[in-house]
Amino acid sequence: MSLNSNSYIIGFAGAVCIVCSLFVSGAAVSLKEKQQLNAKLDLQKNIISVAELPESKDIAQLSVEQIEGLFTESENPNRIEQLYIDMETGKVANINDTQIEADKKACAQRAQKINKKENTAKLSCYRQYQDIYKVYNGGSFSRYVFPVVGKGLWSTLKGFAAVDTKGEKVVGLTFYSHGETPGLGGEIDSVKFKGDWAKGKNIYGSNGVALKVAKGAAKNIDHEVDGLSGATLTGNGVTGMMTFWFGQYGYEKFLKNGGV
Ligand SMILES: Cc1cc2nc3c(=O)[nH]c(=O)nc-3n(C[C@H](O)[C@H](O)[C@H](O)COP(=O)(O)O)c2cc1C
Repeated sequence: MSLNSNSYIIGFAGAVCIVCSLFVSGAAVSLKEKQQLNAKLDLQKNIISVAELPESKDIAQLSVEQIEGLFTESENPNRIEQLYIDMETGKVANINDTQIEADKKACAQRAQKINKKENTAKLSCYRQYQDIYKVYNGGSFSRYVFPVVGKGLWSTLKGFAAVDTKGEKVVGLTFYSHGETPGLGGEIDSVKFKGDWAKGKNIYGSNGVALKVAKGAAKNIDHEVDGLSGATLTGNGVTGMMTFWFGQYGYEKFLKNGGV
């Protein structure tokens, strides 16, 4: 067959495509497990960062085994226990992996049932069973860590909020995923913004959830943190997110039931 014939060129190009696609799909399949493990590790590091354990001071120095150990070793005095709560009742739910998977699949339908005005986190996925974390420091229950999700200006904000043992104050906030502009909305990752939440902000006021990112300097420092300069819209997103997750659709029932 001539090297210049159409059938040779098409056959050669086809063979190159098949070899490349096998290589790419093989790499995707073989790396999938590793990617999932890394994603889990990243979540765990973020939970540790707001857990305020001695281990939280230098997370970069922790080995994978040490990180895993904080979540799995029940005899460890410093540990983080994962629980599931039923968002309808606010009580701890003993559910299995099959129920968790079914719940995840039904989350889009469930989100549509939320009253639009009350969906201040603008969620398109809302699960009935939500994972939460109980932190033990030196053997004593020291704080809760709750997942929080909301919408910023450009992106979905995903993070964790730490709450004191009485369920009255937010004592930490961190984000592990967002696409806000660095230097503007991206300042939600700044030491200053996170430090303001870590000072402790009372969740509830006389009209329900009172947590707020102010526009400019915070006026009511019991509930508010300072705004982000040039990024009021991301700040509003954080306010909407906190309002939702500590309200009736969020952790309010659990906290007002006395937690666990
Ligand atoms: C390229 C570009 C990126 C921006 N990124 C953000 C952002 O991430 N978060 C945000 O709230 N505002 C962002 N803004 C500004 C908003 O459009 C809006 O002006 C601002 O949120 C208003 O806040 P201020 O009242 O504090 O100025 C961006 C603007 C531009 C031009």
